[in-house]
Amino acid sequence: MKLENPLTGSMVSLDEWWMPFTANRQFKAAPRLLAKAEGMYYWTPDGRQVLDGTAGLWCVNAGHNRKPIVEAVQRQAATMDYAPPFNLGHPVAFEAATAVAAVAPEGMKRVFFTNSGSESADTSIKIALAYHRARGEASRRIIIGRERGYHGVNIGGTMAGGIPGNRKAFPALMAGVDHMRATHDLARNSFSRGQPAHGVEFADDLEKLILFHDASNVAAVIVEPMAGSAGVLIPPTGYLEKLRAICDKYGVLLIFDEVITGFGRLGAPFAAQRFNVKPDLLNCAKAINNAAVPMGAVIVRNEIFDAIVDGAPEGQIEFLHGYTYSGHPLACAAAIATQKLFAEEKLFDRARAMEPVFEAALHSLKGTRHVIDIRNLGLVGGIELEPRPGAPGRRGLEAHVKCFEAGALVRFTGDILALSPPLIVEKDQIERLLDTIRNALQAIE
Ligand SMILES: Cc1ncc(COP(=O)(O)O)c(C=O)c1O
Repeated sequence: MKLENPLTGSMVSLDEWWMPFTANRQFKAAPRLLAKAEGMYYWTPDGRQVLDGTAGLWCVNAGHNRKPIVEAVQRQAATMDYAPPFNLGHPVAFEAATAVAAVAPEGMKRVFFTNSGSESADTSIKIALAYHRARGEASRRIIIGRERGYHGVNIGGTMAGGIPGNRKAFPALMAGVDHMRATHDLARNSFSRGQPAHGVEFADDLEKLILFHDASNVAAVIVEPMAGSAGVLIPPTGYLEKLRAICDKYGVLLIFDEVITGFGRLGAPFAAQRFNVKPDLLNCAKAINNAAVPMGAVIVRNEIFDAIVDGAPEGQIEFLHGYTYSGHPLACAAAIATQKLFAEEKLFDRARAMEPVFEAALHSLKGTRHVIDIRNLGLVGGIELEPRPGAPGRRGLEAHVKCFEAGALVRFTGDILALSPPLIVEKDQIERLLDTIRNALQAIE
């Protein structure tokens, strides 16, 4: 099969691109393709409009192809395409770090740039270990993650992550990880609106694991404040506060992976502010620059930066870590423009204001065929379907395909459908999205 590149007009083959996280053979037999985007919509190569119910991959929070971001990237590309970030700097990267720090929680004003959420995960783990070493506690090396956690696909993130399928081919690549239980409790919390009432006690797992390994060996715990990729798992009331208290008690660092929750998704700059729980390190990526150019960051408590940087001898590189593209000029130009747009359009507040509208529309699916749970927070919704006997995940995939054919992009993880529209979404678009899902669920077996 061949398809046309709409920009060059050349006919291209589907064989060579080994697609990520995709059933390649199945996809290439019946590809679903996107060719153009603007605002709340994609268009397929044959001109069909698709309502974006997922902000791309949880990342295009300001909507697609926003002019100020497009122009900032174009201007930067024409001025300076690339600058090495090791022992050299450029003003755009410093400005981008300042713009990101401006929305970060109080006292977290140091920003290490990466190029993805996966790199942020591994970077944050290395910063945690470097911090303990700088303070004379080099034995603190164990990282505690959580079942169903997703921290990307690099080695640290794969090991700290808790999705069995992602880990099984790569056993024990990194020594010294352990996992708490996931907080999902369908029996007690199904059809909760916002934070579920039950499950604060899941946080006790952290204390048990710290005592089991001995606090002197434990460096950090890494969690998504709201787990997205494993199917929209909202933290129970009091859970994150309890993790924070346990970390404080034992001198363990708390890393929030906010790759999805960062930049307005929950109606605040970060989940840290929405839940009023401050981590020590905060990983982000995706919406940092509206996904216009690959970029991520680890935002660090000032004292952690100070301990590592001030603790090193004068003239010595304090932290032997970094990427060729850390602080890439195009990514940084996009980040500055994106943060400005978020502020000008008050998009984080807008997400918070739309939350009740989104919640009501989402929960109107209760009682629809196959639906066994609905959950929501900010502009994130999860719709859990009953798995088809003997074919887990199949129903989720079929619902996704049906919605796409009917003109709406809906993400699926196994049998859970996930919604995370751009923060500019309007009420009628929310309704259209949910009508499309309702019809798809009626139509599939
Ligand atoms: C919480 C979380 N961490 C890390 C990642 C990995 O990000 P990336 O795909 O940019 O490497 C993701 C991706 O969805 C994520 O949701």
